[in-house]
Amino acid sequence: MTSDFFKYQAQTTPHPLAMTISHAEGSYIYDTNQKAYLDFVAGVSACSLGHRHPKVIEAIKNQLDKYLHVMVYGEYIQEPAVELTKLLASHLPKPLEKTYLTNSGTEAIDGALKLARRVTGRSEIIAAHHAYHGNTMGALSVMGFEERKQVFRPLIPDVKFIKFNAQEELSQITTKTAAVILETIQGGAGFIEPKDGYLEKVRKQCDAVGALLILDEIQPGIGRTGKLFGFEHYNCVPDILVTGKGLGGGMPIGAFTSSSKYMDLLQDNPKLGHITTFGGHPVIAAAALATLKEITGSNLMSQTLEKEALIRQHLKHPLITEIRGRGLMLAAITQSADITNEVVLKCKDEGLILFWLLFEPKAIRISPPLTISNDEIIKGCMIITRVLDCISL
Ligand SMILES: Cc1ncc(COP(=O)(O)O)c(C=O)c1O
Repeated sequence: MTSDFFKYQAQTTPHPLAMTISHAEGSYIYDTNQKAYLDFVAGVSACSLGHRHPKVIEAIKNQLDKYLHVMVYGEYIQEPAVELTKLLASHLPKPLEKTYLTNSGTEAIDGALKLARRVTGRSEIIAAHHAYHGNTMGALSVMGFEERKQVFRPLIPDVKFIKFNAQEELSQITTKTAAVILETIQGGAGFIEPKDGYLEKVRKQCDAVGALLILDEIQPGIGRTGKLFGFEHYNCVPDILVTGKGLGGGMPIGAFTSSSKYMDLLQDNPKLGHITTFGGHPVIAAAALATLKEITGSNLMSQTLEKEALIRQHLKHPLITEIRGRGLMLAAITQSADITNEVVLKCKDEGLILFWLLFEPKAIRISPPLTISNDEIIKGCMIITRVLDCISL
């Protein structure tokens, strides 16, 4: 299997973790040697309810018995997609009420960028340095890390970058700007939170010049920060909200939500303004509906803050300089990238899954399922501190 993996399946790095997966349940992933790994990553913030949550599995099985794909997006009335978009709307402030379901986060970002241009008739997009929004050409164009996109140029034109949290740069948002796109909490950059009213000020400047604000909640969204959406912490409602990852409960999904007034523009002039074959797929939508019901109907979100406190309490070590982030979207910053590498790899040997962040080499990603237990948190933190104890500087 391992040699076939390297021979036939295209890789994204020369050194993938390359565990051969047997099965996964709750907070654990098992390899084919039946070794159990406690999962502190949740498929990179995607498996919000852990692995094979019974309600998600039940919803998928029920839908499997009814129908799979029957038609391209938006033509037929399919209950799972309707119920999912309705439930999302019921948890969102006005004017966010209409949702377009996609197959992935990056596709939802591309849809949001197109919608902003369609609404404003402008072309300029302003994004943030060290932002990550996905890897299709549109999303890549607004990624704030030149080194990883240079070879793919030319990308979409009219994209400018500002420094996240730098209020003095907000004057670059002008009447030429179609949209500002930001992650509510920057993920790949190292789990950087907006500070000193930054998002409110971005909102104000967008309003002043008639630009739209797109907030990418693909990582912080759906309960991970203790509220359903990260923006609820900051008194700032976007014009377009993009979600994904944790919404699917382990299934592939993306979504962008805006006002009916704006979303309806995708129907006309030109019609078919954004189309997809599989977006809103009934099985995926059923899994997402079950996930959203479970997260909004339980105390998982409030527990997220208690679990954050527990991690901060148990993850103290001289080699960890700081823990960034909020809720169960945390990054332990070590003294060096080498230490971080060693911790991620050694913890894997010790039965704990950790991962890196895209653009902050000193960060250890800690984004476990929201369903992780307190005992599992303490166990994982002990593994990390034990591994750190063995690292000689
Ligand atoms: C903040 C953010 N935006 C967008 C994406 C892209 O989502 P996907 O990988 O589902 O296309 C990601 C994925 O990591 C992300 O973290």
